Amino acid sequence: MAFLSDTLARVKPSPTIAVTTKAAELKAAGRDVIGLGAGEPDFDTPQNIKDAAKRAIDEGKTKYTAVDGIPELKKAICAKFERENGLRYAPNQISVGTGGKQILYNALIATCNPGDEVIIPAPYWVSYPDMVLLAGGTPVPVVATLENDFKITAAQLEAAITPKTKWFIFNSPSNPTGAGYSHDELKALTDVLMRHPQVWIMSDDMYEHLVFDDFEFVTPVQIEPGLYDRTLTCNGVSKAYAMTGWRIGYAAGPVELIKAMAKVQSQSTSNPCSVSQYAALEGLTGPQEFLTENKALFQRRRDLVVSMLNTCPGITCPKPEGAFYVYPDIAGCIGKTSAGGAHIVDDEAFATALLEETGVAVVFGAAFGLSPNFRVSYATSDEALREACTRIKAFCEGLK
Ligand SMILES: Cc1ncc(COP(=O)(O)O)c(C=O)c1O
Repeated sequence: MAFLSDTLARVKPSPTIAVTTKAAELKAAGRDVIGLGAGEPDFDTPQNIKDAAKRAIDEGKTKYTAVDGIPELKKAICAKFERENGLRYAPNQISVGTGGKQILYNALIATCNPGDEVIIPAPYWVSYPDMVLLAGGTPVPVVATLENDFKITAAQLEAAITPKTKWFIFNSPSNPTGAGYSHDELKALTDVLMRHPQVWIMSDDMYEHLVFDDFEFVTPVQIEPGLYDRTLTCNGVSKAYAMTGWRIGYAAGPVELIKAMAKVQSQSTSNPCSVSQYAALEGLTGPQEFLTENKALFQRRRDLVVSMLNTCPGITCPKPEGAFYVYPDIAGCIGKTSAGGAHIVDDEAFATALLEETGVAVVFGAAFGLSPNFRVSYATSDEALREACTRIKAFCEGLK
């Protein structure tokens, strides 16, 4: 009898975590490595949030809490949805979990049966398909190309929906492309969804606050209130408040689904960390200037990286609307040989040779469901970004 489950055999470990680990190992071994793999802000959690956590510890808020969140935090999340998205939810429509990741996972585990299909626009965040597989569902990728700015069209969505479709996972701005759907682009999708009442919508709004120029963030229920009863609007404090390690994510949706998610969580992690919940409460209710400052910082970095990568031979780098990623196309590099003798047969070979020969760590496109590309996380210093792009350019110039 096999020890490991059949389900586990179908999933792969997170390639982004693998790249980050590999870069850290090389660094520890003394190599000069610039990591552009990790999807987290490079700066610290704001002081007011850290202070709130210290207060929570001193006040003894160190016990189990309600499974899916303390009432104060749920109230603050309701206020956030009303303030920032014009959406009204009651506290019993809110779920708080150990990161956005657990929220999405709880929802999939609570709802997927074998054969249920989950539509996932590609390139996608690496965890979506594997979480669907762990939940017993079938991921159905729908590929958005560079020509369409990495966004799927209404016709593509319509064509992917079948009687077995349970969820449509929507992520804007996107990890890994940074692509953000405008009001009209999203309306075209919500119009399709209105015609298919069996399809539920999981909107992953994790990068809501990281949008640039005059781009306006929108979430599906805001555009189409008719989807309110079958949408789970997911978000979290990880990226917006530089709180990745605190592990707090949340969602709003129909009571029945929220209750089902709490049932899953009650049998896995119980509640999210009590201290982190008080920290997140301060994040959502305290001063918000931090968000605007971050936006300006990331916009400057995006502009720097896009302009530098577009000077690299064989690379085309579109300018995305948000998040802290770019997803350059490297079609012009495939089939060549690097200065170090590596044959660049695909984007994984490109990323491997780039790391070995220049010390720049990026994640290859195949991990996200669209090749040949790689993902750059520009959540690092301007200086490191400049140096990394210079090395990438030298690497590309060396391809023969
Ligand atoms: C699109 C997207 N959703 C969700 C998450 C999960 O965030 P958390 O750290 O809160 O689990 C991430 C993290 O990389 C992400 O990129």
